[in-house]
Amino acid sequence: MSVKLHAKHLARLVTLHEEGRITGHSDRTEEIMIALLGVLRGTEDLPAEAAAWPLAMLAHDVGKLAVPGEILRKPGPLSPYERGLIVLHAVEGREQLSWLADRAAASGDHGTAHFWRLAATIAGGHHERLDGQGYPLGLAGGALPLVLRAARAVDVYEALTATRSYREGLQHENAIRVMRFEEGGFDEKLLGALDEAFSKQWVSAD
Ligand SMILES: [Fe+2]
Ligand SMILES: [Fe+2]
Repeated sequence: MSVKLHAKHLARLVTLHEEGRITGHSDRTEEIMIALLGVLRGTEDLPAEAAAWPLAMLAHDVGKLAVPGEILRKPGPLSPYERGLIVLHAVEGREQLSWLADRAAASGDHGTAHFWRLAATIAGGHHERLDGQGYPLGLAGGALPLVLRAARAVDVYEALTATRSYREGLQHENAIRVMRFEEGGFDEKLLGALDEAFSKQWVSAD
């Protein structure tokens, strides 16, 4: 199976596991990352592997497969134990994708192994926050590489703007406002790039 198909399949499995509460989240994070990189390329010295970030986003929530569906779908507040299971999805995702990387490396397919290592890094760190208040490690500032800052910004932007079965998504301007309000949580440069990427799209869609 190609890496692309495999990553798309993992995204599909996560959607099925959530049983309609959230649909297409991982696919949209791929598209949002493409748009973000389109802006960043003009301003940032991006690593060569950034070209694979969008595809890797497809697998960022694969660890949710290890979290019982009823907890993912629970509308009310979570108990500390349930919250712990949600946190576990980052760790579990990193483990699952590292396993794929190890299998690929063992069979001599180093390109594929490299991709799954990147996907494992994103899955394990996409809930880390710039101010160190994220999970599972609480990485902060310089310890948080650009790929993880970008992954969380894309993940949260998708979550805020998507319309779910239980609520309407926010308009672009309001989503950016909410993210800016979360002081210290996001890299301002990335919020600016997201704003540029999507305010352009709103203009051209009119
Ligand atoms: Fe997540
Ligand atoms: Fe996510």
